[in-house]
Amino acid sequence: MNLVLMGLPGAGKGTQAEKIVEKYGIPHISTGDMFRAAIKEGTALGLEAKSYMDRGDLVPDEVTIGIVRERLSKDDCQKGFLLDGFPRTVTQAEALENILAELNRSIDYVINIDVDKDILMERLTGRRICKNCGATYHLVFNPSAQPGVCDKCGGELYQRADDNEETVANRLEVNLKQAKPLLDFYQEKGYLRNINGQQEIDKVFEDISELLGGLQ
Ligand code: AP5
Ligand code: ZN
Repeated sequence: MNLVLMGLPGAGKGTQAEKIVEKYGIPHISTGDMFRAAIKEGTALGLEAKSYMDRGDLVPDEVTIGIVRERLSKDDCQKGFLLDGFPRTVTQAEALENILAELNRSIDYVINIDVDKDILMERLTGRRICKNCGATYHLVFNPSAQPGVCDKCGGELYQRADDNEETVANRLEVNLKQAKPLLDFYQEKGYLRNINGQQEIDKVFEDISELLGGLQ
């Protein structure tokens, strides 16, 4: 199962990715998570990515394509993969086609979680994430049972550095610019499947599961 998960910031990619990888046992490859891990480790990659992420801009294509190429060639991707947040530009999408051709693989579906851009500011500024296991919550839409504490592992919840109003506004603008050409690219290839992301989290997952049921 070779999947790409697309959607504007806050559309629900990370939320649905958690559920997809648990159900189907494929590795979750999130470029955003990889950059955040590099920042935490203080590597050269992290240092470079941080300046872009803090502003809500895209990390340059060469850098992003390089880390995805390396990750996809690892053994655990033999059984499939779920790319989350990559590709985000047509240049990245073209590079992905080349990487997969070299590996003799191809994409099954590009799942686009479709939501109206006007609801995304509230979703992102209210998001909270577990420091320990990475689970995603929302203060209003998906609260933890005990405020500030993860239901799954008891870890402490925090707010992502780029989830403040100013950075979110720029992330939305930057990603909106890239979205249309990218969707057109995948529509033409026949991979694109749209999922309504403005339903309850479990209902969105039901729709995705229904789609993926056909692949097994
Ligand atoms: P990344 O980490 O990928 O962030 P993003 O694309 O901005 O997406 P998010 O993680 O913010 O949103 P999501 O869709 O995962 O939403 P979530 O499920 O958490 O990238 C961060 C940065 O890294 C970029 O800005 C860029 O600088 C860099 N980067 C990453 N990839 C790159 C690339 N390919 N090229 C260049 N640069 C790159 O949900 C959001 C909230 O809503 C949560 O609180 C959740 O609980 C809630 N929610 C989810 N679903 C629902 C629902 N159905 N109803 C109500 N609430 C919901
Ligand atoms: Zn946790």
